[in-house]
Amino acid sequence: MFEAVKAQAARIGDRRIEDLFADTGRAERFSVAALGMLFDYSKTQIDTEVEAALLALVNEAKVAERREAMFGGAKINETEGRAVLHTALRNLDGDPVLVDGNDVMPEVLETLGRMEALSRELRGSNVTDVVNIGIGGSDLGPVMATLALAPYHDGPRCHFVSNVDGADITDTLKGLDPEKTVFIVASKTFTTIETMTNARSAKDWLASHGVSDEGKFIALSSNAEKAGAFGIPEERVFGFEDWVGGRYSMWGPIGMSVMIAIGPENFRAFLNGARAMDVHFREAHPSANLPVMLALVGIWHNQGLGYATRAVLPYENRLMRLPAYLQQLEMESNGKGVSMDGADLPFDSGPVVWGEPGTNGQHAFYQLIHQGTRVIPCEFMVAAKGHEPGLAHHHQLLVANCLAQSEALMRGRSLDEARNKVADKFVGNELERQARHRVFPGNRPSTTLMYETLDPETLGKIVALYEHRVFVEGVILGINSYDQWGVELGKELATALGPLVSGEAPISGKDGSTEQLLHFVHTNQG
Ligand code: F6P
Repeated sequence: MFEAVKAQAARIGDRRIEDLFADTGRAERFSVAALGMLFDYSKTQIDTEVEAALLALVNEAKVAERREAMFGGAKINETEGRAVLHTALRNLDGDPVLVDGNDVMPEVLETLGRMEALSRELRGSNVTDVVNIGIGGSDLGPVMATLALAPYHDGPRCHFVSNVDGADITDTLKGLDPEKTVFIVASKTFTTIETMTNARSAKDWLASHGVSDEGKFIALSSNAEKAGAFGIPEERVFGFEDWVGGRYSMWGPIGMSVMIAIGPENFRAFLNGARAMDVHFREAHPSANLPVMLALVGIWHNQGLGYATRAVLPYENRLMRLPAYLQQLEMESNGKGVSMDGADLPFDSGPVVWGEPGTNGQHAFYQLIHQGTRVIPCEFMVAAKGHEPGLAHHHQLLVANCLAQSEALMRGRSLDEARNKVADKFVGNELERQARHRVFPGNRPSTTLMYETLDPETLGKIVALYEHRVFVEGVILGINSYDQWGVELGKELATALGPLVSGEAPISGKDGSTEQLLHFVHTNQG
C-alpha cells in the first residue's frame, strides 16, 4: 500500500526543507486556502512527486466512494453494522438522508428544535449553573467547545464532571446553589459506570440539601429506557440514534451544554461551520481539499517517514482542550490493529496524538521537539485575530510565537552559528562543547492552520476538518474508524475488580502484581 510513498521517503534523503523554498511559489503551491482558512504544509518534505504518491493513495483506497457511502447512510461501521451519520446532525437544510430507506432528518430537526426550546427556557430562568456529567465523547467535545467559545458564553455557567474520582464532582459542586443548579447526564448508552456513579452522587447531593430532583436532570442518550429508570421524564430526554458515534456526537443532543452556554443561534452557526466543511470535503478536488490534504500530511509523516507521534499545538488558550478532544477523536478512531476484514495490519496504525496550547508548551516540552533525537511533526494553529480588542498586542505576540516556532523547527541553528553566538564567552574546547549544546538540527516538519477568528462557525469548521481527516486516514489504512473494541477489556476487568478492592471478595486468582497492589490498598484504605 505504502511502497510508492516509502520510495519517496527514501528519495528525499537528508535534503533540507528550507532549501525547497528556492522555489518562490512553494508556499502557495503547498497550501490549501478555503472556507476562510489557510492550511500551509509547505514546511514539510512534501514536493510534487511526494504529493502525487500520496494522492494516488486516495484513488487506490477509493476515498471518494467510501465518503459518499458515509454521507449516504451506508453501514460503513461494519463491525457494529451501523451507519456513520454525524454529518446529518448538521444538515440544517434537512435534505433527506436515508438509513434503511427511512429519512432521518425529520427526527434530527425535531430534536434540535426541542433542544433549542429547553436551552431558551433554561437561559431565561433563574438557573445559574449547569453541570454536564459524561465522559469520553460525552464530555470532551462539549468541554472543548464551551471553553473555545467563551466570548460567546452568555448563558448559565457550565461545568463538566467526568472522572469517577469523587474529587471531580466534589470540587465542581463546591459553592454551587442546589436550587439553581441543573444536571445534564450525557451518556449515549446510559450504562457507563463513571457517568452513572457521578449522576447518582449528584442526586444524593441534591437530597443532602433537601432539594427535590424534580426538573433537575436532563438526559442526553440513545437509551431512553435507562434514562427513564433513572427518573428523568421523557420530555427531558434527548435521544439520538446508533449512527452517531460517541466521539462524533457533540453536534446533536450531546452538545446541549454548549447550546445552553452560547445560545441556539450561535450553536446553529457552529453547525453551519461544520456543514460548510462537509460540503467542501465532498466537492473540492483532493489536492485542494482541506481534510484530504491534512490526512495525507498525516499519512506521509506516520506511514511514509515512520514518525510515531504528532503534536497538535493550538496557540489560542481557549483551545486548551482541543488536543485532548483530538486524542479521543483520532486515537479511538484509528488506533486499530486489524483491517476491516480482520487481518493483521501490515503497517502502523494511527499515530500518538498529543499537545498543549502553544506558548505554554514552548516553556515545557518544545525543548525535546527542537533538540531531542526523535522527529515530531507539529501541527500549529492560530487565528489571525484575537477576541480582545484592547489586547491586540497580546495576539500579535501570540502569532509571532507561533510563526517563530515553525521557522525555528525548519531552519535550526548550525554549529557555526552556535559558535558565533558564544564566541565572546568561551574559547578552545570549552567553546566547542558549549556551541554543540546550542545546535538545533532543524529540518523538522510542521504545518500551520490559520483562520480569521475563533468564532462558532470557525470552530465547527475546525472540528469537522479533523473528523474528516480521521475518516480519510482510516480509509487509507483500511480500518474501521468507528468502533472502539479496545476500551472493552479494561471495563470488564474493572467491574470484576470492584469487589476485590472493596473487600467484598477475597484477593485471589490474580497475577502477583495485581494482588500486591490490592494488598497495599487494603492496608492503607483505612
Ligand atoms: O469507553 C469508550 C466510550 O465508549 C467512548 O467511545 C464514549 O465516548 C464514552 O465511552 C462514553 O460513552 P457513553 O456516552 O455511552 O457514556
